Amino acid sequence: MHWRGLTSAVLILLFIVQSSGDPVVDNDHGRHATRPISEEDLDRMLETTTGSRQKRAPEARALTPSIVRTIYNIPGGDTAGSGQTVAIVVAFGASSAEADLEVYSTRFGLPSCTTANGCFKKVDQNGGNNIPRDDPTTPISSSWLGETNLDIQWVHATAPGANITLVCANSSSSSDLYPAVMTAASLADIVSLSWGGAESLQSNFERFLANASARGVSIFAATGDSGGPATYPATSPSVIAVGGTTTLTESDGIFSSESGWSGSSGGCSNFYTASEAQQASGSGTDPCGTRRAVPDISFNGDPTSGVPVYVDGSYVQFGGTSLATPIAAGRAAAVKAFTSDIRVIDSFYIYNNITLRDITSGSNQNYSAGGGFDLVTGRGVWTGDLDINTPNADENMKITHLMISETMQTKLPMSMVLNVVESTQETLSATTQTRATTSATATSMSSSALSLPAITFFSFSLFLLL
Ligand SMILES: *[C@@H]1O[C@H](CO)[C@@H](O)[C@H](O)[C@H]1NC(C)=O
Ligand SMILES: *[C@@H]1O[C@H](CO)[C@@H](O)[C@H](O)[C@H]1NC(C)=O
Ligand SMILES: *[C@@H]1O[C@H](CO)[C@@H](O)[C@H](O)[C@H]1NC(C)=O
Ligand SMILES: *[C@@H]1O[C@H](CO)[C@@H](O)[C@H](O)[C@H]1NC(C)=O
Ligand SMILES: *[C@@H]1O[C@H](CO)[C@@H](O)[C@H](O)[C@H]1NC(C)=O
Repeated sequence: MHWRGLTSAVLILLFIVQSSGDPVVDNDHGRHATRPISEEDLDRMLETTTGSRQKRAPEARALTPSIVRTIYNIPGGDTAGSGQTVAIVVAFGASSAEADLEVYSTRFGLPSCTTANGCFKKVDQNGGNNIPRDDPTTPISSSWLGETNLDIQWVHATAPGANITLVCANSSSSSDLYPAVMTAASLADIVSLSWGGAESLQSNFERFLANASARGVSIFAATGDSGGPATYPATSPSVIAVGGTTTLTESDGIFSSESGWSGSSGGCSNFYTASEAQQASGSGTDPCGTRRAVPDISFNGDPTSGVPVYVDGSYVQFGGTSLATPIAAGRAAAVKAFTSDIRVIDSFYIYNNITLRDITSGSNQNYSAGGGFDLVTGRGVWTGDLDINTPNADENMKITHLMISETMQTKLPMSMVLNVVESTQETLSATTQTRATTSATATSMSSSALSLPAITFFSFSLFLLL
C-alpha cells in the first residue's frame, strides 16, 4: 500500500498557520489523497445488501451502512437510535453538509435527516446561529468538510433514527473546539469527537468532561491515526476512547474477520489516570499501571476496509479512527433507544455491561493486539450489551453470530471518581503524534509557548492506485 499526501498535508498546515495566526493547528497527519468510488461500485455494494448475494468486485467492497449495522450487531434496524440525539463537534462551518447527507440518505435508503423535518440541526460553538465560514482547505474531501461529512453520514448510517446536532467551532483551535464540546454536551447526551491533539494537562476541560460524564453524557473520542501514542481528549478518563480495526468481509458482504489496524493510536497516558472502572477491571494495568490506557473499544478504521462518504459531489472511501468514533456514537444511540431503561453509557458501562469481539491480531507502532485488553484495540469491538437480547436483524447477522465469540467480563461496582494527575509539563512533543507534518507542528507549538494542544482530525481517505 502506497500512501500519498505528504506534500499537500504540509501545505495545508502551513496555510492554516499563516492564515489565522493561530498557534493551534489542524495538522492533518491523517489525510491522504482520495480513493473515489464510482456510482457503478456503489450499485454493486448495494446489490449485495439487498439480499441478492452477488459477489462484490474488490473495488466495490467498501462497507455499506447495513453491512456495518450488521457486523456490529447494532440494535434497532432501520430506525436504530430513534428518539436519541447525537452531537458531533467539528471545526468550521459545513455549508453543504446537510444537502450532502440528504444525497447520501437517498442513495443508501436511509431516512431523510434534515433541518426541515427536525432531525438535523447545526449550531455555532455557543449554540447559536453564527455558523463560521467553511474550511478553505482544498481538495474539499481533505478539509474539515470531509471530516464533517464522514461523521454525520456515519452517525446516520449506524443510527438512522437518531437526530444529529452539528456543533461548528470557529476554528480548529482547542480554544474554540473545547467550548464547542461544552455546547454539544448541553444539547445531547451522546457526543462524537473525531479529532484530538498532543496530550497536555487540561485541568479545566477535564473538570468539565468529568462533570458531563457524571451527568450521563457519553463522549466518544478518536485515539488518532498515527499508530503511535493516543491523542487528547481520547486520553481523558471521562471519555470513551475509540480505536480502529481492519474489518474484512467476504465478497458477499458477510463478516469474515477483524484485526487491529496499524494506524490505531494507543498507549498509556502521560497525564491522566485511568477511570476507576478501568482500573477496577485491570484493563491496561500491564503496562500502564494506574495511568489511563487507550483505546477503550474499537470499530472499523482502516481506510482499506473503509466506507463511502459523499463529499464535494462524489463518493470517496474513508477510514480512520474518525470513522470508528461516529460508529461508536451511533451504536450508543441505538442501545439507548432500544431499551426503556434510562442508561448511561460511560466508562463503567464499557468495562461492565458490554459484550465484545476480542481482537487478537494486528499491531500499531508500539503494541500488539492480543487476548483481552490491548493498546491497539482496547477491550475489542463493542458488539453487544449484557442485558439486551438483540434480535437478529437478518441472515447476515446470524452468520456473524456464529463466527463471533463474545467475551464477558467480570462485573464491578460503579464509581465515577476520577483521579487527574497534575503535572507541570505543559505539552508533549508533537513529534510523537504525527507522521507527515511532525516538524511543522512541533515548530508551531514551540513558537507559540501555549499549553493548548495541536488539534488533528482523523479522517483517512484512500487513494486508488491504478
Ligand atoms: C428529532 O427528529 C424528529 C424528526 O426526525 C423530530 O420530529 C423531533 O422533533 C426531533 N427531536 C428533537 C429532540 O430534536
Ligand atoms: C467566531 O468568528 C466570528 C468571525 O470571525 C466572530 O465574529 C465570532 O465572535 C467568533 N465566535 C466566537 C465564539 O469566538
Ligand atoms: C455539574 O456541574 C453543574 C454546574 O456546575 C452542577 O450543578 C452539577 O451538580 C454537576 N454535576 C455533577 C454530576 O457533578
Ligand atoms: C451494568 O453492570 C452492573 C454491575 O454488574 C450492574 O449492576 C448494572 O445493572 C448493569 N447495567 C446494565 C444497564 O445492565
Ligand atoms: C511509540 O512509537 C512512537 C513512534 O515509533 C515513538 O515515538 C514513541 O516513543 C513510542 N511510545 C512508546 C510508549 O513506546
